[in-house]
Amino acid sequence: MPAETLRSFLGDRVRVVVGDITRQHVDALVNAANSTLLGGGGVDGAIHRVGGSAILEECRELRRVLLPDGLPTGEAVVTTGGLLAARYVIHTVGPIWGRHAGREAELLAACYRNSLSLAAERRLASVAFPSISTGAYSYPRVEAAAVSSRAIKDFLADDETVGEVRLVFFSPGDAQAFLKHHDFEG
Ligand code: APR
Repeated sequence: MPAETLRSFLGDRVRVVVGDITRQHVDALVNAANSTLLGGGGVDGAIHRVGGSAILEECRELRRVLLPDGLPTGEAVVTTGGLLAARYVIHTVGPIWGRHAGREAELLAACYRNSLSLAAERRLASVAFPSISTGAYSYPRVEAAAVSSRAIKDFLADDETVGEVRLVFFSPGDAQAFLKHHDFEG
């Protein structure tokens, strides 16, 4: 159990922590990327900064070979973790609040589901998520807590591969908002 665990759910398979996602010792970190996969600020900036150039090189190759038009919102791809403690980075593109004609919740749920599917396919035991879309993409924390917790709960109900889903919040306030509005026990 990570030292800074605030709460755990679903038989300790889900843990809520406050911290920097780049410092998490798990098999894969999920990056709150944009569709270019070429970096940005926030989580994206931190992961590329700490993880080093190998991550960007693999992102460029994915764009060249598989994703000439970029990674669509809600989809996810995997690269090396580079210099990070995590072996892999799972890049996903969250919805921008108010820009998807009312499909924001469906797309945010897809980010969590598709990222967890990639982790399970690779038989990764532990995955750390940031609070996708709740920063630059302006997704309200209250709605995001309900959508992300339902998506994670639904995935884990049918999966036995992923042993730990770590939800990493950058501030205590963000973690408390999540703990107040999650739907793990709904
Ligand atoms: N560790 C954990 N959480 C972090 C970190 C970090 N190092 N840095 C930021 N956060 C938090 C933010 O406070 C916010 O709660 O992650 C959440 C997501 O914020 P963003 O990183 O802004 O991601 P998002 O809202 O999905 O916007 C994605 O921003 O950085 C660009 O390239 C990215 O265009 C994309 C957009």
